[in-house]
Amino acid sequence: MNLTALYKGHFIDTPTPDEFRVRKDAIAIVEAGKLLSLERSVPARFSSLPVKDLGEGVVIPSFIDLHVHAPQHMQMGAGLDLGLLDWLENYTYPGESRFADEDYAQALYPLFAAELLRQGSLRSVVYGTVHLESTLILAQALEKAGLMAFVGKVNMDRNAPDDLKETPEASFKGSDAFCRRLADIDRVRPIVTPRFAPNCTETLMKDLGQLAQRLALPVQSHLAETLSEVQWVSQLFPERRSYTDVYNDFGLLGPASLMAHAIFLSDAEIDLIMQRDATVVHCPSANINLSSGIMPLGRYLDKGVNLGLGSDVGAGHTLGMYRSVIQAVQASKLLRVLRPEEDHRAVTLSEAFYLATMGNGKFFTRQGWGPCGAFEPGMSFDALSIDMRFPEAVEMSPLNQLERFLYTGDDRHIKTWILAGKVL
Ligand code: GUN
Ligand code: FE
Repeated sequence: MNLTALYKGHFIDTPTPDEFRVRKDAIAIVEAGKLLSLERSVPARFSSLPVKDLGEGVVIPSFIDLHVHAPQHMQMGAGLDLGLLDWLENYTYPGESRFADEDYAQALYPLFAAELLRQGSLRSVVYGTVHLESTLILAQALEKAGLMAFVGKVNMDRNAPDDLKETPEASFKGSDAFCRRLADIDRVRPIVTPRFAPNCTETLMKDLGQLAQRLALPVQSHLAETLSEVQWVSQLFPERRSYTDVYNDFGLLGPASLMAHAIFLSDAEIDLIMQRDATVVHCPSANINLSSGIMPLGRYLDKGVNLGLGSDVGAGHTLGMYRSVIQAVQASKLLRVLRPEEDHRAVTLSEAFYLATMGNGKFFTRQGWGPCGAFEPGMSFDALSIDMRFPEAVEMSPLNQLERFLYTGDDRHIKTWILAGKVL
C-alpha cells in the first residue's frame, strides 16, 4: 500500500493566533497520515504519484470542538429563553433521561456523529449522560464515523432528578468501568466527567479526582458559567475558597483538565487555573443563548491562559464550529463596547480561528495524540476543503473566501473531510 498522498489547493491555517497564513497553489505531501511538507510544486521524487485537487476554494485545518453534549443534539434550540438552571431542569435533564434506553441511544448517537462530521468537527471532546451503556454506544458511534474523540460518562449524585441521580458509589463505579471498557476503542478515549460541582458530592469528586490520577485520564467539567450557579456553589461548599478551588481541592484541576465557560472568575481563580496549567473552554453560543454572560476572552488570551473553544450544543445551537468562531469575535466586540471602563479588547478572526483549530488541538497533543491543528510538518493531516462557489469573475482572494465561509457559510460548503490523512 502506498502511504504517500499528494493534495493540491490554497491552504490557510493559523500556526500562531496573530494572523492567517495563506499558501496558494501549494502541494501537501502527506505520509502515513501526517504532513511531510507543503511545497510549491510536486518534488521530483513524488512525480509518479497522482495529485488530488482539492479545488479552487480553500483548504483549512478541520475543526475541533472542545465541549459538546451529544445527548443534547436533539434539543438544540429548544428552551433557550431560560437561564441555565431552569433550562437544565426543564429541557436538558428530561432529554438526557431518555438515554437510559439503549435502543434510543443506538438510534440517536449515530446521527450526532454524522452531523459532527458533516459540520467539520473531526475531533471533539464529548459529554454523554450518566448511563454507562448508552455512553459506550456514543463512543462506538463516533469511532464508527471515523472521528477522533474523548467521551465522558457524566457523573451526578445530587441536585439532579431521581432518574439521573446516582449514588456516589454507583457513579464512581460506572466511571471506572466506562474508562476501562473504552480501552478497546482506538480513536475514542475516556475523559472523567463530573458534570459540575452542584451535581457532585465531595465524596464523588474526591473519588473521581483519584480515578483521573490513577489512570492518567483527562477531566472535563463546567465552571462559573452563571452568577446564580456561582452563588449556589458558594452555599454548597462554604469552606472552599472559590468555585475553582472546589475542583482543585479534589484533584480535578490540572494540565489535563478542561473547564467550560469560566466567565465569573476572580483574579485569584485565574491565577490558580494558570498555575495548574488547566484549559478554559470558551462557549460563546451557549453563553449568549442562556444570557449567562460574556467571557473576557481578550483578557484571558493576553494573560496567557490555556484556551479552547466549544459549541456546547445543546445550550449552543449549532455544531458548526465556524459559528462559534464568529460568536467568539462578536461577543468580544460587544463586551468592549458595553463595558468600556473595563478595558476589554476585540478578539480577531484569526485568534478565534486559531482557538478552534490549533488551540483546541493542543489538548489532543497534550494527551499524547501527536500534534494537530495546522499545516505544519509532522502534524496530523486533518483538513476540510471549502468551496463558496464564487463566480470566477468575482476574483475573491483565498483569505476573503475563508472569512466569507466563517461568517456566512455552512456545511453545504464543506466538500472534503480528511482526518489523519484519510478522506472520510
Ligand atoms: N452546567 C451543567 N450542565 C450543563 C450543561 O449541560 N450545559 C451547560 N451549558 N452548562 C451546564
Ligand atoms: Fe456544557
